[in-house]
Amino acid sequence: MSKYDVAIIGSGPGGYVAAIRCAQLGLKTAIIEKYATLGGTCLNVGCIPSKALLDSSEHYHNAQHTFTTHGIELSNLKVNLKQMIDRKRGVVKANTDGIDFLMKKNKIDVYTGVGSYLSATKIQIKGEKTQEIEAARSIIATGSKPSSIPGVTVDKKRIITSTEALELTEVPKHLIIIGGGVIGLELGSVYARLGAKVSVVEYTDSLIPSMDKALGKELQKVLKKEGFEFFFKHKVTGASVKGKAVTVTAEDPKGEKVEFKGDYCLVAVGRRPYTDNLGLDKAGVQMDDRGRVAVNDHLQTNVPNIYAIGDVVRGAMLAHKAEEEGVMVAELMAGQKPHINYNLIPGVVYTWPEVAGVGQTEEQLKAAGIKYNTGKFPFMASGRARASMDTDGFVKVLADATTDEILGVHMIGPRAADMIAEAVVAMEFRASAEDIGRISHAHPTFTEALKEAALGATGNRALHL
Ligand code: FAD
Ligand code: NAI
Repeated sequence: MSKYDVAIIGSGPGGYVAAIRCAQLGLKTAIIEKYATLGGTCLNVGCIPSKALLDSSEHYHNAQHTFTTHGIELSNLKVNLKQMIDRKRGVVKANTDGIDFLMKKNKIDVYTGVGSYLSATKIQIKGEKTQEIEAARSIIATGSKPSSIPGVTVDKKRIITSTEALELTEVPKHLIIIGGGVIGLELGSVYARLGAKVSVVEYTDSLIPSMDKALGKELQKVLKKEGFEFFFKHKVTGASVKGKAVTVTAEDPKGEKVEFKGDYCLVAVGRRPYTDNLGLDKAGVQMDDRGRVAVNDHLQTNVPNIYAIGDVVRGAMLAHKAEEEGVMVAELMAGQKPHINYNLIPGVVYTWPEVAGVGQTEEQLKAAGIKYNTGKFPFMASGRARASMDTDGFVKVLADATTDEILGVHMIGPRAADMIAEAVVAMEFRASAEDIGRISHAHPTFTEALKEAALGATGNRALHL
């Protein structure tokens, strides 16, 4: 039986990053993945393929709607969905092949098959053959799966999850989306840009409800212009399929029954931690009340030699959060003292305009009774945004009213996904709004909007407003 210092179950961004860091630190490492390709949800059916389709569909949308204004005329413009999906598959393959390379480079043993605990140190791997390995310590990085709601059964053909939405063979005529969160709006954007009518049925009163409220409001305005229909405060109660027709039933805000008819329904109501067939009982690992693997501040389960990271534990279900946790656990095992500042894990939605936020929202600051100043700069006033015709959106900086320390940055606009990094760095070094306002930002760039919003927060000193 092969023996390891560390075995990792699951090869998503949590698992494969943990494996690399363990190997870098000199630990003999194995990684176990039940699918034939490495990379988990993120690389195979999540972050990467969704961004590939978002990029392709955005090109089409621009060719259709903004090129003529730029003085570019096209004729016979049409969508070749098969080619778009094939390109996406190529992007996924390049990324998953990259993980194979990294495993080899770092001398990590890869096992293909379902990993399950036989005890706290023995793991069985059921693949083409059944094997057993022994690991002094292990990391559960088994991620998450799409969840559904009562009355809605995913048939993977007409009532689909994000996984199937990344592999459609036709553009829906009318896509009904249950859930106005991240997946609903990203994949809704893909198909709205390609010509589908998109209706979003959302339980709460706003889009992306976990982010700063102003972002959801602005995004709603922009997506409405693109043809999205929104139904807020609607509780979906069921969905059924007859031939090619899908009917979604919901209770409207008055409690009355309403029906939505389309040809596809995307269920995007969140994801659940995945621990099926993992044999947690045999290892003695406990779960929390929400079906996640319970961990302490060091991501250690109740069994001291077993750790857990990523979507399968508490916290945001984000690839970069899983990666940070992978590194942290590897370094803890090697006797180091790493730390994650969970307040500074940024959240991003890859619609266009992109949405990004880090730190405290206005709602959180109000609830905590913290006094703050606000600086807000609209992209309408940015020279760079006017040049590229990306004038929707704004940057908002929230700074402590007494110390001027930046407490939160929330933005919706062009390249917000990349721009939020400056805010994360600033906040990690506990910068004040004035610090950002005094740093030279190249002109013309979208990043000037952050500088201007920071100046706005530090005594209403924006220069171009
Ligand atoms: P996962 O990536 O889910 O990996 C877990 C792996 O474990 C899987 O490969 C699974 O097969 C394997 N596994 C499970 N059980 C076993 C077992 N018993 N034996 C062997 N293997 C097992 N996040 C972002 O930060 N940015 C984005 O843009 C983004 N876009 C997304 C788009 C979509 C459509 C979706 C669905 C998700 C997106 N996410 C995004 C979320 C991101 O994919 C997850 O947060 C991330 O993948 C979690 O990483 P993980 O390592 O915890 O788990
Ligand atoms: P989500 O939590 O973002 O959104 C789910 C939405 O569904 C919420 O707005 C919720 O109010 C709504 N909802 C729940 N029950 C409902 C009902 N019965 N009727 C109507 N609406 C209902 O979850 P989503 O979009 O499925 O994404 C799952 C996870 O994947 C997220 O946690 C996210 O972090 C991650 N992800 C991240 C991305 C990114 O970072 N860009 C992209 C895609 C996914």
